[in-house]
Amino acid sequence: MTNIISGKELAATMRQEIKEETARLYEKTGKQPGLAVIQVGENPASSVYVNNKKKACSEAGIKSFGYHLPDDVTQEELLDLVHTLNADRNVHGILCQLPLPDHLNEFEILRAVSPQKDVDGFHPYNVGLLSVGKKTLVSCTPAGILEMLVRSGIEISGKECVIVGRSNIVGKPVAQLMLSKNATVTVTHSRTKDLPAVCSRADILIVAIGRPRFVTADFVKPGAVVIDVGINRDDVGKLVGDVDFEPVSEKAGWITPVPGGVGPMTITMLLANTLEAFRDINAVS
Ligand code: GUN
Repeated sequence: MTNIISGKELAATMRQEIKEETARLYEKTGKQPGLAVIQVGENPASSVYVNNKKKACSEAGIKSFGYHLPDDVTQEELLDLVHTLNADRNVHGILCQLPLPDHLNEFEILRAVSPQKDVDGFHPYNVGLLSVGKKTLVSCTPAGILEMLVRSGIEISGKECVIVGRSNIVGKPVAQLMLSKNATVTVTHSRTKDLPAVCSRADILIVAIGRPRFVTADFVKPGAVVIDVGINRDDVGKLVGDVDFEPVSEKAGWITPVPGGVGPMTITMLLANTLEAFRDINAVS
């Protein structure tokens, strides 16, 4: 029998913990954690994610400040906003929803966010701290994946972990996290030769490539843990992951569903990171 790892249930438990912690810190300091959420343009997927993030904040007792900028905002205007938020004492976390329109320099925008308020863990300073194994704000999807593995009691140390996809948001940081937990890590990508054979070595297979049902049962070692980061629409508009769930779940030992798997954990880790930034900025525990 395959174990389904319910991100939805784990996220609900963690969000309750975060809500209680936010209330305790409010009692202690009289202050409420604040998250600034910047969206540029009208990307429909971004609008859904941003609204979900704001809603999760309000349920957890975190104040959210929304900034919806027009598609033609200039680099200077966006940088000005980031600098203003860096200096705002009511803001402890700053998130700029990606992707940004092509005329904006994404790297420069992310680099302008104060590393202390970088709740997405995208600033090169925080990426660097993660890569040298130091405590830092870690990118939310990788942090959520680790939390799911740990809370499910899955052993990581000494295991073969194969990651499909090398993005800056998921593939690379999750590789660093798994390495820090003593897994043997392989990162695969579009030029990898014989992907099914490489994936079949994995005790823990993490898939983040954005291609519906790409990973089939022949990629999976019997009993493996399969973490599906994908959120795609198939030909008939159904929400599906990067993993072909039905056949793979018959072979895997553990699997995350889509929806209800990694997605709810990503937003939960954003709340956790905002709380951590609040504690750090106010020097409270
Ligand atoms: N776009 C897709 N995933 C993310 C994320 O985790 N953070 C931000 N800021 N943008 C995204």
